[in-house]
Amino acid sequence: MNKVITKKIKSFDNARSSLDETIFHNANGYIGVRGTIEEGVPAEWDTMRGMYINGFYEVIPMKQAENLCNFVDKKETMLNVCDTQTIKLNVNGHDFSLFSGKTLLNERTLDMEAGITKRNIRWQSPKGDKVGLEIKRMTSFEELSLFTIEYSVTAENFDCELVLRSLHLPEVYNYSDPNDPRLAADSEKFLHCITADIKDSVSYTVTETNVSKLKCATLVAHTISAKNSRICVSKTDDNTIIYDAVVPIKKGQTITLTKYTIITDSLRHKDPLEVGFKKIEAVLKNGIDHYYEAQKAYLSGFWSKAMMEIENDNEMSLAVNFNMYQLLQSAAKDSYGNIAAKGLSGEGYEGHYFWDTEMFMMPFFVLTNPELAKQLLKYRYQTLDKARENAQFLGHKKGALFPWRTITGVECSGYYPSGTCQYHIDGDIAYAIINYYLVTGDLDFIRDFGEEILLETARLWLDVGFFDGDRFVINMVTGPDEYTCMVNNNYYTNMVAKYNLEWAVKLFSILEEKGMTGKLKKKIKLHDAELTEMSQAAEKMYLPFDEKSGIIPQDDSFFDKPVWDLSKTPKGNFPLLLHYHPLHLYRYQVCKQADTVMAFLLFSQVMDKEIMRRTYEYYEKITTHDSSLSKCAFSVVAANLGMREKAYSYFGNSAKLDLMNLHHNTKDGIHTANMGGCYMSVVYGFAGLSITEKGLSLAPFLPDKWEGYSFKICFMGSVLLVEIDSENVKISLISGDPVEITLYDKKVKLMDKTATKSLLR
Ligand code: BGC
Repeated sequence: MNKVITKKIKSFDNARSSLDETIFHNANGYIGVRGTIEEGVPAEWDTMRGMYINGFYEVIPMKQAENLCNFVDKKETMLNVCDTQTIKLNVNGHDFSLFSGKTLLNERTLDMEAGITKRNIRWQSPKGDKVGLEIKRMTSFEELSLFTIEYSVTAENFDCELVLRSLHLPEVYNYSDPNDPRLAADSEKFLHCITADIKDSVSYTVTETNVSKLKCATLVAHTISAKNSRICVSKTDDNTIIYDAVVPIKKGQTITLTKYTIITDSLRHKDPLEVGFKKIEAVLKNGIDHYYEAQKAYLSGFWSKAMMEIENDNEMSLAVNFNMYQLLQSAAKDSYGNIAAKGLSGEGYEGHYFWDTEMFMMPFFVLTNPELAKQLLKYRYQTLDKARENAQFLGHKKGALFPWRTITGVECSGYYPSGTCQYHIDGDIAYAIINYYLVTGDLDFIRDFGEEILLETARLWLDVGFFDGDRFVINMVTGPDEYTCMVNNNYYTNMVAKYNLEWAVKLFSILEEKGMTGKLKKKIKLHDAELTEMSQAAEKMYLPFDEKSGIIPQDDSFFDKPVWDLSKTPKGNFPLLLHYHPLHLYRYQVCKQADTVMAFLLFSQVMDKEIMRRTYEYYEKITTHDSSLSKCAFSVVAANLGMREKAYSYFGNSAKLDLMNLHHNTKDGIHTANMGGCYMSVVYGFAGLSITEKGLSLAPFLPDKWEGYSFKICFMGSVLLVEIDSENVKISLISGDPVEITLYDKKVKLMDKTATKSLLR
């Protein structure tokens, strides 16, 4: 239920088509394939015909107008690796196309239980021949290298010889839009072909990048259901490999062409082509049905943990499921990659990883799939040396600074005021590590990976900040709000830095008590005096507060600026970043996303509710929500403050952001952070979940529009089912050892039974 989206496409135009390329993309965390249509669209249409590999990149020059000392002069970019999506059909002399003949039915489906997308079409050729098409696509969760297209044609009213032409194109270009800073400016072909050939009807290619010297192997095999087909596989001079099938078909008959693509790369394999051949052999032996079954089984496991049911609100239920499914599609399943801001659905933000992972998506994975969360955190550990180097580039004598945007761990942000300057990323990663520990109790992870990151990021705070009399201050940083840059004492940054410093020391002493520090102290040459300094800095961390208004200023100078009048800003001028020079924006009180509200999301348990409320209301008036990360944060905090309707309204917006293209740029890819934020709106917001040193607590309410909702969470190795209806909150221990939680401020021990409490009104 609520896991199948079917769209009837009435007017097939450019905008619809590019949007659906994103909505109906297939991905499994390793590869992603845009939902482009097999037969192609008119040349003048805006299409991003992409297939991507998570973590696979080329290094390209970063054009800096003035090359000042240690400016980033190159960046990594995600690559379109090949095109194996093209299949063309000729019916009795007429090419099938939605732009000729008559389209009698055009439907697209995303089935999130089967893990496939589907096109269902009925088409009448100019001659009057009617065909039914069902085209299924899958990126397999079992064999991550595998992408399949199952192309079935039914002859409704004719006999003929169909001609099917399927392409394997290794020479492809990346997408670009010089007018949008969120996309690459130049369209380029980053991979050149070094091998393209055919062996036993399997076509194979190897391509290589110029600078990163990474190789990608792609292999394509076909099977066809009609035994009497005539097949020819050939290669053109531009390395395109063409599979042609002439297939006799009779009225009422259906024939099916199955196209298997295997993609491997040299990041993960020494000889990607050799591995590719083994994989394609295994895939052909197993057959497509095996992978359909495995896909269903994998997803049934996923949904059993990630379940979220909303009663009597099908639309929201579907939207929430869509968002969770996209998170799964986007998350790397190995530590060569992470979760890009657009997942594997498009080239927006060039496949880069941001703080989005730790602050917005990690909560979903920690609570539903802690193993995967650990994997994502390990990726950061693997890049720790690069973060140490990055800190040195920026003049720091010690510590590690994680890059604002990256693929392999090097800084890829060219505009430092709203990029590199966002030092809070260190605190965000630290927060995610601590949160993972508080949910799982996994001290081994802290010993082996987490504590080293916590100490190196804490060192960075000591280096960038300083004791100014009785206060520890941090100057010249940018908070999450990118419309206010390079400020002193950004509230959000100081809050996460404080937490980072406190916990670096706390976890070190826990490890020490248990004799688990191992060689860490020696490895990073840690002195006891540093730990003392960390504690002092945390204690003395300066957190701006305006006594007069009782509101928290975003930073030291925020309230000195004039307020931007949003009511007088023409509608067409949003998002502001595309219409105003950044410097102009920096001179006003106007927020792309509100830092203080984001800080409340993380630390509401230790905040004064009245100050929070006043501050929330203040920033709400000057926040444009031009960032897709904004409304979900406003939703969670509104819920925590008891503003239930507001919380629901922001949630609704967050839930449907991509499905309804609310930011008008879903064509460039999904907004993965918002999808995690949507999950948080329900679990952290409506259900009032919080995780602190004292444990897990819940304080749910039921949004007016709903009759009930339920979800599962993992806590300390046990799985809990939380059910809320108009009368009660019921929490059941589904598996694992008994755990203690707090429900509306009361401790409840969940043994092998259920705890039920009346719902707080
Ligand atoms: C937001 C950042 C975010 C980035 C990638 C920007 O628009 O302001 O906070 O990390 O998008 O999603």
